[in-house]
Amino acid sequence: MPDTKQEIQTDMDQEIRRRRTFAIISHPDAGKTTLTEKFLLYGGAIQSAGAVKGKASDRHATSDWMEIEKKRGISVTSSVLQFEYNGFCINILDTPGHQDFSEDTYRTLMAADSAVMVIDGAKGIEPQTRKLFKVCAMRHIPIFTFINKMDREARDPFDLVDELEKEFGIGTYCVNWPIGCGAGFKGVYERDRHSILAFGETHAGRRRIEGVACDISDTEKMDALIGSYAREELVSQIELLDGASFDFDLDKVRNGRLSPVFFGSALNNFGVEAFLQRFLEMTTPPLEHVSGDRLVSPFDPDFTAFVFKIQANMNKAHRDRIAFLRICSGRFERGREYYHVQAGRPVKLSQPQQMMAQEREIIDTAYAGDIIGVFDPGIFSIGDTVCEKGEQVTYAGIPTFAPEHFAVVEQIDSMKRKQFAKGVTEIAQEGAIQIFFEPGTGMERVVVGVVGQLQFDVLQFRMESEYGVRYNKRDLPHQLIRYIKNQDVNPADLKLMQTTRWVQDVRGRDLLIFVGQYEIDWALDKNPGLVLTEFNQNT
Ligand code: G4P
Repeated sequence: MPDTKQEIQTDMDQEIRRRRTFAIISHPDAGKTTLTEKFLLYGGAIQSAGAVKGKASDRHATSDWMEIEKKRGISVTSSVLQFEYNGFCINILDTPGHQDFSEDTYRTLMAADSAVMVIDGAKGIEPQTRKLFKVCAMRHIPIFTFINKMDREARDPFDLVDELEKEFGIGTYCVNWPIGCGAGFKGVYERDRHSILAFGETHAGRRRIEGVACDISDTEKMDALIGSYAREELVSQIELLDGASFDFDLDKVRNGRLSPVFFGSALNNFGVEAFLQRFLEMTTPPLEHVSGDRLVSPFDPDFTAFVFKIQANMNKAHRDRIAFLRICSGRFERGREYYHVQAGRPVKLSQPQQMMAQEREIIDTAYAGDIIGVFDPGIFSIGDTVCEKGEQVTYAGIPTFAPEHFAVVEQIDSMKRKQFAKGVTEIAQEGAIQIFFEPGTGMERVVVGVVGQLQFDVLQFRMESEYGVRYNKRDLPHQLIRYIKNQDVNPADLKLMQTTRWVQDVRGRDLLIFVGQYEIDWALDKNPGLVLTEFNQNT
């Protein structure tokens, strides 16, 4: 263990420099879990394929409300995994693939320094990829694209790349290029290494998964590996690609303007290690974070972190909540007293833990770039900052994502008024739902907004099982929500269509909910000067 101040700083610098914290995003079924699993295999964090999924089902045993996950066979919450590879300490933020839980996914992206976007080669960009990409683009974090399932019939690679550029408005640089696909998949050509990574021939009915490197100019060996037809086709495609595509530019990669693209097959473990190695070379150690008008460097010796996710009831017996913190600077030490900025008081972060592969471990130290989960006795909200006493750090909050489904939720039993209010408030604090009030009504009736319908099921399940409360729910046809930006506008005086509703959030800010875009257009047309905004940045 380092002792002197100097030793501690040197140790900290080294530790931070080798950290890589990234999220894996994809539309469900594109292969995110399979790719994550292969990464973990390379890191030696798991021994066999299938362990990630297997363990995920074990986890249900300790998290009762995740019954819903079990019933629907989807992963609702995101987890964080840490493992070592080639001297790097890697934190993967796994995100739930199901579209209904996109809000949680969005927040997770706030804690990542880069993102790996997995795309199914047969499908290209899908709706969930689109949504997630937008959030990454908003933060200008580097995005690395892995086009998966090349062992199956896939779309034309030029088409896929063109789609990425046109839809996302970014440049792409294909680090490797596929040679065929499906039954005719021969491997990939590594452009800057001028060599082929060949996909093994069918061997006793099974494909070999290891690659064979070969220089593209070695015609004889190339023909032996992929055949002369595939070689000739590859040479003409590479000529086309070299002529038409963007040049590689690491600065552009690092500020999210150029996405390195890799082709491969996660299931066959083909191109995965090469991807991981190249990705680790290109991506950055932990990034700086904005606090007020200054940038906090991760190497700043003072510990700072923000809460990006709160997860309730991991253990029903204790009804506890875990707050997940992204460490932005310095070193965390277990047992030290820190300062909770929003509460304005000291805080001990108890039971600090990290996920090592699938095991939770109590940890003594952690560094900028790491994610720690701490026991939350109900004091934290999403976006809160924790730092050293005396530091004035407040990280720019985590945006609230606009709900797309709304319902009026009303208590049935007036004897359980307190539990109802506590339940909806706490669940809203965790960020699983958003609650709004219609002016003039109290806590017995709230408008609940969610990003995905499934969150209504989670709400009902948790209200009954944790708070012993049942309620009436009436779905609303509304789908859009906007903040009223003008301070001087009294919403009661606005000319609105009959179906438009005026609500207020927990901080008393005015919002309007709309059934469709035409209602927004109508409101803007009839109320000159009215300014409506979609996102609200929490502070
Ligand atoms: P997700 O986390 O993005 O939702 O996707 P996941 O990894 O669970 O993969 C979805 C399905 O796609 C799985 O099949 C998986 O085996 C398959 N898959 C992933 N990568 C590849 C690939 O490179 N090639 C091919 N051919 N298939 C791939 P499944 O049948 O739904 O599940 P399982 O029974 O294999 O677990």
